[in-house]
Amino acid sequence: MKKILVTGAAGFIGFHTAKFEMEKGNYVIGVDNLNEYYDVKIKKDRLKILKKYKNFLFFKDDLNNKNFYKKLKKYFSDIDVVIHLAGQAGVRYSIKNPETYIVNNVLAYIKLLEFFKFSKKLKVLLYASSSSVYGEKGEKKSSNSLVNDPISIYSASKISMELISKVYSKIYKINLIGLRFFTVYGPWGRPDMSYFKFLMMNKRKKFLEIYNFGKHQRSFTYIDDVVLNLFKIINFYKKKNLRGESSVFNLGNEKTIKLMDFIKTLEIVTNIKFKKKFIKKQLGDVEKTGANLKLEKDKFNLIFNHNLKEGLIKFYKWFKNY
Ligand SMILES: NC(=O)c1ccc[n+]([C@@H]2O[C@H](COP(=O)([O-])OP(=O)(O)OC[C@H]3O[C@@H](n4cnc5c(N)ncnc54)[C@H](O)[C@@H]3O)[C@@H](O)[C@H]2O)c1
Repeated sequence: MKKILVTGAAGFIGFHTAKFEMEKGNYVIGVDNLNEYYDVKIKKDRLKILKKYKNFLFFKDDLNNKNFYKKLKKYFSDIDVVIHLAGQAGVRYSIKNPETYIVNNVLAYIKLLEFFKFSKKLKVLLYASSSSVYGEKGEKKSSNSLVNDPISIYSASKISMELISKVYSKIYKINLIGLRFFTVYGPWGRPDMSYFKFLMMNKRKKFLEIYNFGKHQRSFTYIDDVVLNLFKIINFYKKKNLRGESSVFNLGNEKTIKLMDFIKTLEIVTNIKFKKKFIKKQLGDVEKTGANLKLEKDKFNLIFNHNLKEGLIKFYKWFKNY
């Protein structure tokens, strides 16, 4: 039976992706090292849900660990799709902890590519890049524009992954597709991200720390839209008989939202008036992100079904009961 490998399966996007693929009847092999970048409890709880599916197999392993590949070898010729979502996320964390981005984004990716480089079954390997590759002046940039001006090690590690993909796809004729995600949010989200942190700060009766005096703007993208569009992109590549393609695409909501409007919507949805403390821009943060989907919409027929309010209502419903 054909199988999909989802790396970072206990992570936010990996969990939703694995679940969606299994609900579509696909067999998923998940791997995650359950690192402690944020509370491991939420990762374990996500896994509890995934483990209820019969078409799920999980390895608690690190992609940099040789032993993992020894175990995975048994499934080598069954895996036709890899969705590589494991990695070290977070822009601000990368200022103080640069090495982990090289180890878990760059090196781990090379180890994964080394394993799959001679695969005859692999139709496509999708990997997570990020809107942060566009740097400070990157709003609404098309995915085929040059990215060479990162302002954090996080974004430099993602650009490195994109460059490494070009090399591997050329030499080994494998299809490596990078997806630049834009601020993904939703139930089972990451506790280090602003919307989640705001509610936690409020719970602890703390002031909300609002960076860059509230001047940030983001393409907030609801998780179900990401997962559905990922599915479409995978199917596109499964149907085509391509060899050696290396492309990168934007995957984010085209609507850019001002941080203060985001907070206002969160206040309406939660019926909470947050206490706010405005602070300066943090190192590595870009002021605006904005998804340009001109290329992607035509090619994959991408759909974004959730507006911000709908997405936040779903997030808050989950948050209150978690
Ligand atoms: N969530 C977003 O808004 C967003 C935006 C842009 C890009 N991304 C990228 O998408 C990917 C997934 O993001 P996420 O929000 O789900 O993050 P996440 O931190 O929730 O998930 C990543 C998972 O990978 C695991 N992991 C890390 N290093 C590993 C290794 N060496 N071996 C095995 N497992 C490892 C972690 O334990 C974690 O569970 C990341 O690469 C991230 O940089 C996310």
